[in-house]
Amino acid sequence: MQKILIIGSQGMLGQELVKIFKKGRDYKVIAWDREDIDITREKEVSKKIGFTKPNIIINAVAYNAVDKCEEDKKPARNATHSVAGGEYKLALEINGKALGYLAASAKKNKAVLVHYSTDYVFEGDFEKLLNQEPAECTHSCASCSLHNNREIGYSEDSEPSPINNYGKSKLLGEKEVAKNIKNYYLIRTSKIFGKPAISEGAKRSFFDVMLELGKKNKIVKVIDEETSCFTYAPDLAKKTKEILDSKKPFGIYHITNSGHCTWYEAVVELYQQAKIKTKIIPVEGKEFPRPAKRPFYSVLINTKLNPMRSWKEALEEYLKTVNSEQRTMNNKKKK
Ligand SMILES: NC(=O)c1ccc[n+]([C@@H]2O[C@H](COP(=O)([O-])OP(=O)(O)OC[C@H]3O[C@@H](n4cnc5c(N)ncnc54)[C@H](OP(=O)(O)O)[C@@H]3O)[C@@H](O)[C@H]2O)c1
Repeated sequence: MQKILIIGSQGMLGQELVKIFKKGRDYKVIAWDREDIDITREKEVSKKIGFTKPNIIINAVAYNAVDKCEEDKKPARNATHSVAGGEYKLALEINGKALGYLAASAKKNKAVLVHYSTDYVFEGDFEKLLNQEPAECTHSCASCSLHNNREIGYSEDSEPSPINNYGKSKLLGEKEVAKNIKNYYLIRTSKIFGKPAISEGAKRSFFDVMLELGKKNKIVKVIDEETSCFTYAPDLAKKTKEILDSKKPFGIYHITNSGHCTWYEAVVELYQQAKIKTKIIPVEGKEFPRPAKRPFYSVLINTKLNPMRSWKEALEEYLKTVNSEQRTMNNKKKK
């Protein structure tokens, strides 16, 4: 039996990882969140991991306030020169430097490290991507979109070039992992949806926010840009387990549900499935100015693994779970 340590275990992805690895008898799961460890404290990380001696460490911790860490650029206290302060500093610590501590501890204890990154490490320039050589499928599936079509997007070996602070902090994490350990899986993913993290005020997924807006408004405006892929947290957790079970070669993987869309296209599908009649108006990104720049087109291409089901199918499943939880809550209120 393998001892697996899941850190960030109460997050959107972390909760699903715990569920999936607890099934069966292959893994003994140790689940830690913020109250058990602060991954930005080097000594604490080294001591606690050294004591626990896991065979596998999965890091699902995140700093994901994309706009907040863009705005807050005030210099750190006592800084003698202009350095990132406040929120951006925190993002660099959680998403970046802490990965050096985790990777070093994993290496010291001969554990495999699994870490997640994002499509936001790429700049998302569609014109540049058009001039790029198409990615080729390297896995052994019978047929996938890469066999027949030219796919435009970023494959595992594309060169990252982030355009916002969040992306820069995640890229620092990627570099820290690669610098400190060889036995790692770095999984890039995008637009995760699923049950929100357990902590109060946790960031809800785009679909949850749009469901609420659709129920309250007759019209919603949605950005018809920023094409990328959605990822259902339980599907990502399952695929992570498949990688570990089948001992895939170490390195970078891209995991999302199949298919891509803009935010607007996603809401059209969401409201259709949820039978919400609210009118949806497509708008340009500039209509909703946000502090952080977003990649215009950041589709992640997977050339190594069998593709996952489509995001539309996964969304259908998610809506069923949301509805059944709602019914249970309503029944409890009636009693
Ligand atoms: N969500 C997305 O759309 C998305 C897209 C691309 C990539 N990713 C990546 O996917 C991974 C999982 O993201 P997620 O959305 O599941 O994250 P999440 O829901 O925000 O969960 C992160 C968890 O980490 C905990 N945490 C935060 N700081 C910590 C610290 N210093 N030490 C220990 N625990 C800490 C959080 O606790 P609190 O709640 O108390 O802060 C929370 O339980 C991350 O690597 C993320 O960057 C996510």
